[in-house]
Amino acid sequence: MSVQGDNVVVSVIKLERMLSMKGGKGEASYANNSQAQARHARSMLHLLEATLDRVQLEPPEVPFAVADLGCSCGGNTIYIVDVIIKHITKRYEELGYETPEFSAFFSDLPSNDFNTLFQLLPPLSTNINGGSMEECLASNGDRSYFAAGVPGSFYRRLFPTRSINVFHSAFSLHWLSQVPESVMDKRSTAYNRGRVFIHGANESTTMAYKKQFQTDLAGFLRSRSRELKKGGSMFLVCLGRTSVDPTDQGGAGLLFGTHFQDAWNDLVEEGLVESEKRDSFNIPVYAPSLQDFKEIVEADASFAINNLEVFRGGSPLVVNQPDDAAEVGRALANSCRSVCGVLVDAYIGDRLSDVLFNRLERRATNHAKELLEQLQFFHIVASLSSA
Ligand SMILES: C[S@@+](CC[C@H](N)C(=O)[O-])C[C@H]1O[C@@H](n2cnc3c(N)ncnc32)[C@H](O)[C@@H]1O
Repeated sequence: MSVQGDNVVVSVIKLERMLSMKGGKGEASYANNSQAQARHARSMLHLLEATLDRVQLEPPEVPFAVADLGCSCGGNTIYIVDVIIKHITKRYEELGYETPEFSAFFSDLPSNDFNTLFQLLPPLSTNINGGSMEECLASNGDRSYFAAGVPGSFYRRLFPTRSINVFHSAFSLHWLSQVPESVMDKRSTAYNRGRVFIHGANESTTMAYKKQFQTDLAGFLRSRSRELKKGGSMFLVCLGRTSVDPTDQGGAGLLFGTHFQDAWNDLVEEGLVESEKRDSFNIPVYAPSLQDFKEIVEADASFAINNLEVFRGGSPLVVNQPDDAAEVGRALANSCRSVCGVLVDAYIGDRLSDVLFNRLERRATNHAKELLEQLQFFHIVASLSSA
């Protein structure tokens, strides 16, 4: 393998070992900063349910398997798995069938805080051991499914062939498997000088990000097409953009490409970080357009597209007092730190990372009104079935 090839492997493995949302239950943890994602997911429940209505049901003796990919460590994944299992149960009941046993796989990169997630899981219903599935589902607040964690990258195989009935993945597929090599190579025209994100970047940088997204999503689809049972379905949601121009990354652009970018520039201007150090930090996120996403699904050809749309998710900021600029600033800094803080901490250390997010908070406080009015996330929502 070439040196370039080795570098690619190293950089993929490095990001996979490191990337995670902020674990635990602290102020900047993902568990405490994912209410916006929860809201956006709830607003799309009708689309999820339409996908679940398409799943072909097997005889009740066959266990039913659900997998949430990019589950992270908050309550959102538990809520969604519960919705899926209740909906499928209802479908079995409407047909007058017994309900099958359910298993739910919570999957994310190995650096995900699975401990916090497992502690949030409700206890397994006592009725599952001998009682009927109906009794089990009726037992208040308890879990009616067997749960397991699956560590690994969703851009590769995670499950045995034809073993999963429903794949769900929310707010995760915009995370690239790596920052493209050329974007970090000073000799390349794709070197992202002066920036920490693709938003507003030059054409070569943009094409490198786009190509990485294509490669990654193709790997995801290839793997899932092997793992999904015949008659199974997938519901995928990721950050998206409404512009055809990839250098306009929409809400992600406003967040990472302006305010977060400005906070990095503050550190450089204050002499706390070298400009080169900033330039070689890049957020590995790409918000695709509908067309970007569609082309890759069609090229793979393993899935029938039931629905593919851009959905307005809304603001990523959840605040109690919208007039309180300090609260808005804090919410933005915490929400940003909950998703990319682990990468920043690893790159410049906790102390400088504290300064960076403090500068971000200050800037966001000063732009609170504008942020509340303008910061909107759009999502690509895809409902796919085995072709
Ligand atoms: C914003 S969180 C989404 C969490 C959750 N689905 C929700 O709805 O709140 C994105 C998750 O995607 C995961 N992720 C990113 N790249 C991944 C990859 N290649 N394989 C598996 N998980 C990945 C991250 O570790 C993170 O936990």
